[in-house]
Amino acid sequence: MTDIIDGNAVAADVRDGLGAAIGTLTDAGHTPGLATVLMSDDPASETYVSMKQRDCAEVGIESRHVELAPDAPAEDLYDTVDDLNADPEIHGILVQMPVPDHVDTRRVLRSVDPAKDVDGFHPENVGRMVAGHARFKPCTPHGIQKLLEAYDVETAGAEAVVVGRSDIVGKPMANLLIQKAPLGNATTTICHSRTEDLAAHTRAADVVVAAAGVPEFITGDMLSEGTTVVDVGVNRVEADTEKGYELVGDVAFESAEAVAGAITPVPGGVGPMTRAMLLWNTVKATSEQTG
Ligand code: GUN
Repeated sequence: MTDIIDGNAVAADVRDGLGAAIGTLTDAGHTPGLATVLMSDDPASETYVSMKQRDCAEVGIESRHVELAPDAPAEDLYDTVDDLNADPEIHGILVQMPVPDHVDTRRVLRSVDPAKDVDGFHPENVGRMVAGHARFKPCTPHGIQKLLEAYDVETAGAEAVVVGRSDIVGKPMANLLIQKAPLGNATTTICHSRTEDLAAHTRAADVVVAAAGVPEFITGDMLSEGTTVVDVGVNRVEADTEKGYELVGDVAFESAEAVAGAITPVPGGVGPMTRAMLLWNTVKATSEQTG
């Protein structure tokens, strides 16, 4: 039987686990505060940000939303981040990526106070994570670690293949998988668009993390019996539905499920965990700034 990994359930456990800490901080006059900044009219980005705000409300984190027109001057975004850095009621800052082309992404990432960088994207925080003493682990890889832990997936000594080399998922995921603890110690390969024989790598893997942003391109014939498959993809593909699209992952679910030992669905797998770990990082940021 293939385990269908229930990200909604594990994310609910993570949120429940944060309740006591949020209560203690709030009672002490330090209600955790998260700012989300959106400079995009991409409907998917708008949806992500509004879900993050809803999550905050559910667990008692204050959220503040700043929205900038996609054609606003880049300085407006830099100034917004500066203001939020200086605001004592804001403990975490998330600038939804991607930002428009006329904005210097690296400048934005560098400008967020590392202590408030709940995405873990600031170079200082990336460096700390790579060096093995993370302050904030990036939310998606951290959430995947929690899912693997919840389902007792052994990574120590396992062959792990990460498909995709993004700064947000692929690179940090591979980094966490090679670390000694916790939940690391995997022999880890990163595959990408120039990999010669992707299927040879994925067939040799005990754990496959698919994060390339290509709809349904990991198929069952590319996997070995019993492999754990983690699907990070959230691709909107045209479909005859009310919204005119449906969400599909980077994994062709049906064919992969037939061989996998465990698999995350889309939606309901990794997505809820990414959001839960954002709350986790916000609580950590608040504790550290007020403790
Ligand atoms: N865009 C896609 N994923 C993310 C994320 O985890 N954080 C931010 N800030 N933007 C994203």
